[in-house]
Amino acid sequence: MVPGSAQATGAGSDGAPDPVPSPKIVGGEKAQQGEFPWMVRLSMGCGGALYKQDVVLTAAHCVEGSGENTEIEAVGGVTDLSSPDAVKVNSTKVLQAPGYDGKGKDWALIKLEKPIDQPTLPLATSADLNEGDFTVAGWGADKEGGEQQQNLLKVDVPFVDDATCGSAYGSELTPEEELCAGDLENGGIDSCQGDSGGPLFRKDEAGEFVQVGIVSWGDGCARPGKPGVYTEVSTFAADIEKAAGELGA
Ligand code: ARG
Repeated sequence: MVPGSAQATGAGSDGAPDPVPSPKIVGGEKAQQGEFPWMVRLSMGCGGALYKQDVVLTAAHCVEGSGENTEIEAVGGVTDLSSPDAVKVNSTKVLQAPGYDGKGKDWALIKLEKPIDQPTLPLATSADLNEGDFTVAGWGADKEGGEQQQNLLKVDVPFVDDATCGSAYGSELTPEEELCAGDLENGGIDSCQGDSGGPLFRKDEAGEFVQVGIVSWGDGCARPGKPGVYTEVSTFAADIEKAAGELGA
């Protein structure tokens, strides 16, 4: 499946008010102000993370190629996008992963016109952290076919190994370049449309957040047996660092 091509069906929304509080990101809850200070919302409707204060790491499928680009706006420093405290900065350049063709390699960097004064999110540089429980956050849909969110949502999603994920997706999965997460048995927790480009993260041995994935694609959202697929950051950490250098980071 090509990232972004997963079609939302909107099943289950009959217009009647929900009897229970509606699930968030899918199946998560609101993030606290300052909890994930490196989270960025991008104007094309994607998420991202501050890799440097003036460089956002997002998904390749969120951008249209590489080169000068002053059209993307990044909003940082807030969980509520309508907050007066939102810091809005425009892009100057975009670097899409070299060789990106819609399968794997789903990463890109966006250089900002000026820094956003917030902590950055370091990358996992080895595969050691590519397991366990992850967290994903974003302003994307809170259910398949749902609306984009004004407030940042978060959810914890367990790691799903390549073999299991491969049996869900077959050759659509690029296991050397992607990792999967979700509740395979029950579904109900996931990232969704509009979360793309945002980080999948966990804490390292020292208790510091590290980015292990980038929201990339899935078959619908939060379906049982269909985990979310994420760009495997450790595979590309060296390339991303080099690319950031080329952007003048
Ligand atoms: N491609 C989607 C986007 O552009 C992200 C989909 C993530 N899907 C999932 N089931 N985790 O926003």
